[in-house]
Amino acid sequence: MAAILPSARIGQLRPTAVNSILAEVRQMQAEGKTFVSLMRGEPDFRTPEHIVEAGQKALRDGRTSYPDNRGEPRLREAVAAKLERDNTLGYDPSSEILVTTGATFGFHAALTAVLNPGDEVLLPEPIYDAYHSPVLLAGGVIRPVPAAIENGRFVLHPEAIEAACGPRTRMLLLNTPWNPTGTVFSRAELENVAQLVLRRQLVLLSDEIYEAITYDGHAHRSPASLSAEMRERTILVNSFSKTYAMTGWRAGYCAAPAAITQAMFLVLQQSSRGPATFVQDACTEALTASQNCVQRMREEYAARRSLVLAELNAVTGCRMLAPEGGFFAMADIRALRLASNDVRRALMRDHGVVVAHGSAYGPSGEGTLRVSFATGGDTLRRGLAQLGAGLAALRATE
Ligand SMILES: Cc1ncc(COP(=O)(O)O)c(C=O)c1O
Repeated sequence: MAAILPSARIGQLRPTAVNSILAEVRQMQAEGKTFVSLMRGEPDFRTPEHIVEAGQKALRDGRTSYPDNRGEPRLREAVAAKLERDNTLGYDPSSEILVTTGATFGFHAALTAVLNPGDEVLLPEPIYDAYHSPVLLAGGVIRPVPAAIENGRFVLHPEAIEAACGPRTRMLLLNTPWNPTGTVFSRAELENVAQLVLRRQLVLLSDEIYEAITYDGHAHRSPASLSAEMRERTILVNSFSKTYAMTGWRAGYCAAPAAITQAMFLVLQQSSRGPATFVQDACTEALTASQNCVQRMREEYAARRSLVLAELNAVTGCRMLAPEGGFFAMADIRALRLASNDVRRALMRDHGVVVAHGSAYGPSGEGTLRVSFATGGDTLRRGLAQLGAGLAALRATE
């Protein structure tokens, strides 16, 4: 019998860097090797107890039937109040907010709702590589916008965005705080981007999933809050995954003007139909209860970040780009004059430590490694020691 063949559309998709590296790790584990991983963006915190309890109570109370497909009304109201409180943004919970199965479904709904076949999406690089496939699935074409390291941080110049624009360019995807670079766009940087978005009449897809994790006085600002015009051109995507250590609950939300929210709703209604009702109750608790748990996690990430910077800046040939937000630190290893993927492989093979190579996130990431401190404690300490030793050894053999 002939096997079922996947569609041509699926042929364009590729696994994310993390998934490819994990496949290598598993193969080497099967050969008896052991690893310390500083690769994944998975917070090692448990979901805060009061959120878990709200989910359990909802289950016991029988909150197990189909949810309101736009999102449970209480949760949409809580999202609207959160956006007002944290982002100075006003959205109507009845028509401008959509609850999604994580930010991942938010991108899918937004891209599917906005793009016509052949429309171009500007994608800064290096960037979180799971954006590519949903753009392609929605019939879009990716236009990369290279970023550059300047004064110890990755920056995106408006000229680079402008140069990547063509007549079919419809959308710009921005992720601030930015995975993997750690850059938090300043107000002036966002103003520049906004000018271009408005002049070119682009749609801004704004992934704000790391908004709660910022350092050294850097603060997240929602691009939509810059002006009424920007609010009209922006689809805001956010999630409970990172802020509340709820990756496995699969819950997020979008905010956008009513007409586009309605279009995204149609996509959602014909596919996922949103997170489970009791999960949405737990999310309502996350947004409406005290935010002290978020502050505690932020403080712990800040301590881990300091450790990462201190340990790896001490390694000759490695300069850390101090992250302004998120829980990834980029190690600038251009001084080694080796391909980042080769460095990653050598670190895995010879030093038992797993990180992601910068080039996996785009050619501008070449010469860097992404080091995650989403996991702390002994794993982070051992990982940093092995990483430092590995980089020193690679430098010695140069
Ligand atoms: C920038 C960025 N956006 C979105 C996601 C996925 O979000 P969610 O778990 O809400 O689908 C991740 C996960 O690593 C991420 O790094």
